[in-house]
Amino acid sequence: MAVMKKVLAVALAAAFAGAHAAPGAADADKRAQDTVARMTQAEKLLLVFGYFGAEFAGVKPPKDAIPYTAGYVPGIPRLNIPPQWQTDAGLGVATQPSPAPRERTALPSGMATASSWNAKLAYEAGAMIGREARLSGHNVILGGAVNLMRDPRSGRNFEYAGEDPLLAGVITGEQIRGNQSNDIVGTIKHFAFNDQETNRNTIDVKIDEQAGQMSDLLAMHIAIERGDPGSVMCSYNLVNGVYACESDWLLNQVLKKDWGYKGFVMSDWGATHSTTQAANGGLDQQSGWPFDKSMYFGPALKEAVDNGHVPKERLDDMARRILRAMYANNLMDAPQPKVEPEKIDFAAHAKVTRQVAEEGSVLLKNAGDLLPLAADVKSIVIIGGHADKAVISGGGAAQVHPHGGSAVRGEGPKGFPGPIIWLPSSPMKALASRTKARLTYVDGKDAAAAAKAAASADVAIVFATQWAAESLDAPSMALPDNQDALIAAVAGANKRTVVVLETGNPVTMPWLNDVGAVLAAWFPGSAGGEAIARLLTGEVNPSGRLAFTFPASEAQLPRPKIDGDPTSRDGRFTTDYNIEGAAVGYKWFEKTGKKPLFAFGHGLSYTTYEYRDLNARLESGKVVLSFTVANTGKRAGQAVAQVYAGPAAGGSNAAGWESPRRLAGWDKMALQPGESRAVSVTVDPRILSVWDPKTRKWQRTAGNVEFTLGGASDAIAARTTLALPK
Ligand code: GLC
Repeated sequence: MAVMKKVLAVALAAAFAGAHAAPGAADADKRAQDTVARMTQAEKLLLVFGYFGAEFAGVKPPKDAIPYTAGYVPGIPRLNIPPQWQTDAGLGVATQPSPAPRERTALPSGMATASSWNAKLAYEAGAMIGREARLSGHNVILGGAVNLMRDPRSGRNFEYAGEDPLLAGVITGEQIRGNQSNDIVGTIKHFAFNDQETNRNTIDVKIDEQAGQMSDLLAMHIAIERGDPGSVMCSYNLVNGVYACESDWLLNQVLKKDWGYKGFVMSDWGATHSTTQAANGGLDQQSGWPFDKSMYFGPALKEAVDNGHVPKERLDDMARRILRAMYANNLMDAPQPKVEPEKIDFAAHAKVTRQVAEEGSVLLKNAGDLLPLAADVKSIVIIGGHADKAVISGGGAAQVHPHGGSAVRGEGPKGFPGPIIWLPSSPMKALASRTKARLTYVDGKDAAAAAKAAASADVAIVFATQWAAESLDAPSMALPDNQDALIAAVAGANKRTVVVLETGNPVTMPWLNDVGAVLAAWFPGSAGGEAIARLLTGEVNPSGRLAFTFPASEAQLPRPKIDGDPTSRDGRFTTDYNIEGAAVGYKWFEKTGKKPLFAFGHGLSYTTYEYRDLNARLESGKVVLSFTVANTGKRAGQAVAQVYAGPAAGGSNAAGWESPRRLAGWDKMALQPGESRAVSVTVDPRILSVWDPKTRKWQRTAGNVEFTLGGASDAIAARTTLALPK
């Protein structure tokens, strides 16, 4: 009976707490309340202070911490409260710099998951790494990274989900939901506006509330509604002059009051800067000691509570929120995680990461149907990118280490966030078993030698790489290490040149007109070589669509030069996000009439699709869009039909809109040749609204709204208009 009651309670909670409440959310509030009532002050103070899981600055972690991991918070056995064993991160189970890193499955970049436009796959990816986290002994995963791509050079874009709040929010929310399906606490980060790495600890981001609510905060809100993460990680930077981890506006007003968030706010590692201001500002847990200058939530917090500077109720609230997240994710009820990696089904997990790489790679150009590689190709020269051995991965806290360790050693910075870890998944080896062509490899260091080799091959495939890592922004959008010259030389020698990009960011392509095809594979994860080979040979039909814009140059950006000084350790700088406000990415390009190299939503296929019969109607107060998608080509494939919305031209309802159009929804579907599918999409009301600073609510804009349908933001196949009442 008790089980039935619990199942019913969970179902009810899920119904009321938004589509996807955490597994044990139904009675988590009451259980947390009851436990806090039984706790001593000392026990409450235990919960709000977290340790780094590796030795740092001469401080060793507590003995129960899992070595070389992100974090540890002691438990309270008397009350059946387990410790929190925290691991990074959003792309798999990471290990801090260690003599023997744990070998786990690496997902591709978050940019790939977002470019798959496949929410179900995002959930499966999150569930897979959540399982590896649990079988590695963890009950908290610090994933869910969703800062918007305001700058295409930011070093952590590879961890995030692109530039659009709806797409990024849905994809990240589903990943978090997947994480938490393993009875572990998920996280969403970095709250908020940590959209560059240069001077990340000291940069002050200027952003008006309305612009913030309609961009980065909307992505976070959608992800929180869908994933119900137990925790939110506040970020390093300042926002409008206040550190994010002590910002009453961000943490108390927006997150906890406006959004009704019931979980807890943990700081980023080294992002706590005070005791009273942080505790009263909404921070619930100081993370990663000794990264901070002081144990702000240690004895100092006890003193602040004892002398009334921090109300006793506030300490209770901190403890209650932490416990609520733990109860809601079954940390007390599920058996404590054990370190048993032998139970990880790496073969099954490889299929998941490979599918994300396949569905998240984007075919940007394919002149003359150069791809898929024809069966009668006799010779192929493979150039650069260590493609004979590996694929590249991103650096920093999110670094996942592969079986057997890095396939190439000694490249990149020796210390954090390096060295560069090359995942031993060779595109060349994977290709060899899928083509009859003779394959030769040239490392690409000598452009002339590469061009010579290309001249005598049927096809040349250049693998171009751009490493990216936490704490560093790319110095420019150009490919590093003279790869532009290499590609130009090869393309000059052989028109049938394919470029495979393994980059952490969008890059410029001065050689674009001279090459036949470009496949963007991002950081393709631990089965990336196989995924790339399957896409190049047509075993899999590309279905990725860009989750962010490829600018033609830095000059097109709101900030052609990134603010700050990468050589300064703790200088104070500001950056003005009010230049673009909520018009991030394609919205900026459409608002300013700039033409990008490749538009948001762009992606080619080996077949063709038709998008037609767009209709918009009001149904019980919500806008429902219906349309038909047809596969008009000769191959099966997955279409990504995208619908956008904006005030109809000349309408008076444009006031407050940040740009002419917003992504309003999409559907991804598999279609056989000749097959067509009728689809309907219900539009989130916020997409048709403006956030009103006076009422602190979204207000739908009355008037005519135009909806467009197509296979990319710049490929409009159908339009329709609907008059919207207030
Ligand atoms: C890092 C990152 C954060 C990570 C944390 C723990 O500096 O900013 O994403 O989860 O510290 O490693």
